[in-house]
Amino acid sequence: MYEKSIELLNKAVADEMQAVHQYMYFHFHCEDQGYETISKLFLRTAIEEMGHVEHCAERILFLKGEVEMVAAGPVEKIHDVKKMLELARSMEDQSRRDYNVWANECSANSDAGSRKVFEALVDKEERHYGQFDLEIERIAKLGDRYLALVSVDSGGSAPAEPHEH
Ligand SMILES: [Fe+2]
Ligand SMILES: [Fe+2]
Repeated sequence: MYEKSIELLNKAVADEMQAVHQYMYFHFHCEDQGYETISKLFLRTAIEEMGHVEHCAERILFLKGEVEMVAAGPVEKIHDVKKMLELARSMEDQSRRDYNVWANECSANSDAGSRKVFEALVDKEERHYGQFDLEIERIAKLGDRYLALVSVDSGGSAPAEPHEH
């Protein structure tokens, strides 16, 4: 009776793996261009997405399934920092939508445990969405001045937060 949940959890693993790869790619390129603060935001977010893989994997194993450790698709080779943030924001938007739907599907299949995993992920992806959205808003307001500012890691734009797992 848990086949559908296992399938959905594996889809989430694939999306989270994809996000890890994409955000690490953005991390390297932001660092290469000197955007220290945004580079750190991508690194921190990638590490959190890895934690999400772990949550889903634990649930799959609990349900006696197999974890398919495959990323959902290739990395988008974007080097423009605004475009990076826009893609990241749209990925978070898609994740929160998917996880809401999948939470309901698990609920309909009487699997409250998996529903809770997806609901917890919705909260986390909404926070990521908000962080990327804030950076995009700042760039829209201040443009190149903001990008010049974040190339010096003042710590002011994206405060360090404890990693959530
Ligand atoms: Fe995630
Ligand atoms: Fe996320």
